[in-house]
Amino acid sequence: MLIVDGIHTYYGDSHVLQGVSLEVRAGELVALLGRNGAGKTTTLSSIIGFLRPRAGSVTVLGRDMTGKPPHAIAGAGVGLVPQGRRIFAPLSVRENLVFAARPSGPWTLSRVYELFPRLMERQHLRGTSLSGGEQQMLAIGRALLMNPSVLLMDEPSEGLAPLIVRDIGRIIGELKQSGMAILLAEQNLAMALSVADRCYVLNKGQVVAETSASSLRADEDLKHRFLGV
Ligand SMILES: Nc1ncnc2c1ncn2[C@@H]1O[C@H](COP(=O)(O)OP(=O)(O)OP(=O)(O)O)[C@@H](O)[C@H]1O
Ligand SMILES: [Mg+2]
Repeated sequence: MLIVDGIHTYYGDSHVLQGVSLEVRAGELVALLGRNGAGKTTTLSSIIGFLRPRAGSVTVLGRDMTGKPPHAIAGAGVGLVPQGRRIFAPLSVRENLVFAARPSGPWTLSRVYELFPRLMERQHLRGTSLSGGEQQMLAIGRALLMNPSVLLMDEPSEGLAPLIVRDIGRIIGELKQSGMAILLAEQNLAMALSVADRCYVLNKGQVVAETSASSLRADEDLKHRFLGV
């Protein structure tokens, strides 16, 4: 579904991603782990087309999408739940959900409301008046309505209370059952390991490990060196 092959991404002269390669298959949930500044967001931004890798390639469902603009990459089937949720302040909950929707798949507004009943109850309120957890649900619902084949999620647990993180983790686990390929960038190792099949560990813009979730759980040295556990 998604193949990232040896991408190098820069901010000006700053060489941040140094040959990142990863793969996510259909129905697979892959975690992208790493400390603050490891390059998780830069990797997702390079996939969705906000940043253009200077070398390497991004392939989505067999199509080379390297260097294409974000709308083309979204059109090829990649959805993003951005870090910090990015809810549009002037819009209501419902408007946040529907304004970018692509009616070309299983996800409809009513199905998103079924998954997140609280969004339906609050659909006429401003998106930014919701709690942090509800805004995260809104960001996830908005991405689902683009009916992506590949869903990128950037630290959905960030800033949320433990009980809410557990809810979000449960929902991500349910989404996996729907057959989407999911790439989940996280600093919350426990949450990521509770849902992931495989993990890539990023450090200073390089993949330093690729492992199953169960081997990472047992690898104290790897967790200590690169994840600050
Ligand atoms: N707009 C930018 N301009 C210049 N450097 C940047 C920019 N955004 C990020 N960086 C740098 O790129 C590196 C990778 O940052 P990135 O945001 O990808 O990390 P991250 O793994 O997502 O971290 P976090 O967990 O804090 O979100 C860091 O050294 C960061 O300082
Ligand atoms: Mg980030």
